[in-house]
Amino acid sequence: QELKLSLEQIEKGGYEHFMLKEIFEQPKSVHDTMRGRLLVEEGVIKMAGIWDHIEKFKNANRIIIIACGTSWHAGLIGEYLIEEYARIPVEVEYASEFRYRNPIITDKDVVIAISQSGETADTMAALKLAKEKGAFIYGICNVVDSSIARITDAGSYTHAGPEIGVASTKAFTAQLTILTLIAFKLGKHNGNLGNADFMRLIAELDAIPKRIEDVLSSTHDLVQNIAKDFVGATNFLYLGRGYNYPAALEGALKLKEISYIHAEGYPAAEMKHGPIALIDENMPIVIIAPKKGHYDKIVSNVQEIKARKGKIIAVVNKGDTQVSAMADYVIEIPETAECFSPIVASVPLQLLAYYIAVYRGANVDQPRNLAKSVTVE
Ligand code: G6P
Repeated sequence: QELKLSLEQIEKGGYEHFMLKEIFEQPKSVHDTMRGRLLVEEGVIKMAGIWDHIEKFKNANRIIIIACGTSWHAGLIGEYLIEEYARIPVEVEYASEFRYRNPIITDKDVVIAISQSGETADTMAALKLAKEKGAFIYGICNVVDSSIARITDAGSYTHAGPEIGVASTKAFTAQLTILTLIAFKLGKHNGNLGNADFMRLIAELDAIPKRIEDVLSSTHDLVQNIAKDFVGATNFLYLGRGYNYPAALEGALKLKEISYIHAEGYPAAEMKHGPIALIDENMPIVIIAPKKGHYDKIVSNVQEIKARKGKIIAVVNKGDTQVSAMADYVIEIPETAECFSPIVASVPLQLLAYYIAVYRGANVDQPRNLAKSVTVE
């Protein structure tokens, strides 16, 4: 039989959709983002963009992160990372809000823009504003030589490779990787991250591609089966605390974008201020509950959900018992330092959104009404 493959099929490399291919590329894309930067043996993080302007970062009053969509979620995790390890105050803003609210910006501010495409109109306009006010502007872009990459004073590319699926996956984990490197580098330099902790953390970071690979192989079939049970869902709640609160937002966004199921991400403790009223036997709730990071608090949130008969899909560490005992579905991920957990926890959530959308017959790579890069307001 004649072998006829379209260019698109070749580009998809045997996967049914670009999104699935990109989810599976993450061990490599995260590794590529660290390549040449993370030198574990030497105990060094090499980032010319940061190093050449280290005084700017050292003397910064604060760092303002601006972005849209998934990149904004990465920014929220960046805030947790940079404040924890470098102890520099960080604010995270939607570019569209920042640009129109007459923000206070000075030449003592460092503005970091995060953008996969490097072309998002709101992010670009916000950056121009910050630049006019004298801030030092730094870009974290995936697309080389994109508009945002060109107007920034310095930056770091994510090196995730081309992302075709409209819903961002590998660009997100690459953004988290860069933000982690920046936080560790600044913390090491300004003395807030001691050498022993630095060495321990970078060794663990170096192993993250392997962790992602493990998660992909151990959860792929399982998540596919879980997805089948939620094809008819009309709502979803995603909950997490600490570093995994933004991961919950991102999990919910993935589902919304491609399956058209209404989903909301919430910090688990905020549940009592509203979302708890929605919980009944028809409400699926994805709860991200790794060991490190407010585990006991999450346990009580899960008890509250259980008492109201919500359907619990729990993302927990291997060997977990407490949350697992109450959950309807259990997805296990390896234990990591808390700051890395959004990277590994996001992978099964990407798969969950993907399979629910596929089973609903949705156009996963090109969801209705959405664009890969939004170059208009
Ligand atoms: C669009 C895309 C999202 C992306 C957002 C920001 O909405 O569909 O996937 O997160 O824009 O894009 P950027 O290229 O600036 O990261």
